[in-house]
Amino acid sequence: AEIKHAADLLRNARSVVALTGAGVSTPSGIPDFRGPEGAWTRVDPSEVASLQNFLRNPRAFYDWFRPLLDRVLSAAPNAAHYALAALEEQNVLKAIITQNFDGLHQRAGSREVYELHGHLRTSTCPECERQIPTRVLLPKIRRGDPPRCSCGHPLKPDVVLFDEMLPRGLYWLARRAVEHADVIIVAGTSLEVFPVNELPAIGLRHGAKLIIINTGPTYMDGRAEAVIRTDVALALPQLVEQATGA
Ligand code: OAD
Repeated sequence: AEIKHAADLLRNARSVVALTGAGVSTPSGIPDFRGPEGAWTRVDPSEVASLQNFLRNPRAFYDWFRPLLDRVLSAAPNAAHYALAALEEQNVLKAIITQNFDGLHQRAGSREVYELHGHLRTSTCPECERQIPTRVLLPKIRRGDPPRCSCGHPLKPDVVLFDEMLPRGLYWLARRAVEHADVIIVAGTSLEVFPVNELPAIGLRHGAKLIIINTGPTYMDGRAEAVIRTDVALALPQLVEQATGA
């Protein structure tokens, strides 16, 4: 019944935006952070995934990062990614705002993707800002050596760590997208990380309606028009099919 209600909302919408998190990639075999098996249930994120920690101890950072990188590199998009790509193809979905750095939305065919927490395509030297394609660094990373810049400092993948700023231009594009949306689909995110977790409320203030698809609770559930507590890889294809007949 919730999916049917959500499909009705989509059918009457002119501008739909999706906000996604790690939960859309768990069906692709990439673990999330705060789900029952999530990475942050075992370690404190600020201990590993901060710039401060990276600069102090790049080896510890890469020990945490290496298995995640390997999972991402061997992952393929799942039905949730493809459903969102189809919705964009139908001109219903205008943009995907994602906290994921795995690149799976683009691999599924999505074009307008704002990667607010960065990506793995390149790595940058925090000291001299030289940028290198991450794939060049893979042999070194896999041997357990933090890759280094020609200036001698360790290179950091271009993912946004806890104590770092979001890519400013992309954040403003994301804000503008939610301000112009009439429906926002929130999928696979706990909405615990600032400032991305404020985007649904900003959308609501500008008149958007929320559809939340998440197996766990979020602080916005009470303000959503529809809350679907089902695996995104099942719910999103059903939703898109019911809304567009695709
Ligand atoms: P979280 O791990 O915080 O939240 C993922 C949510 O998805 C949880 O509420 C899960 O219950 C839900 N979930 C998992 N698998 C699902 C599935 N197949 N179908 C439906 N729901 C599912 O991940 P994010 O919200 O993305 O930051 O976390 C935000 C940021 O915190 C991440 O970008 C990362 C992390 O620290 C950085 O790396 C900087």
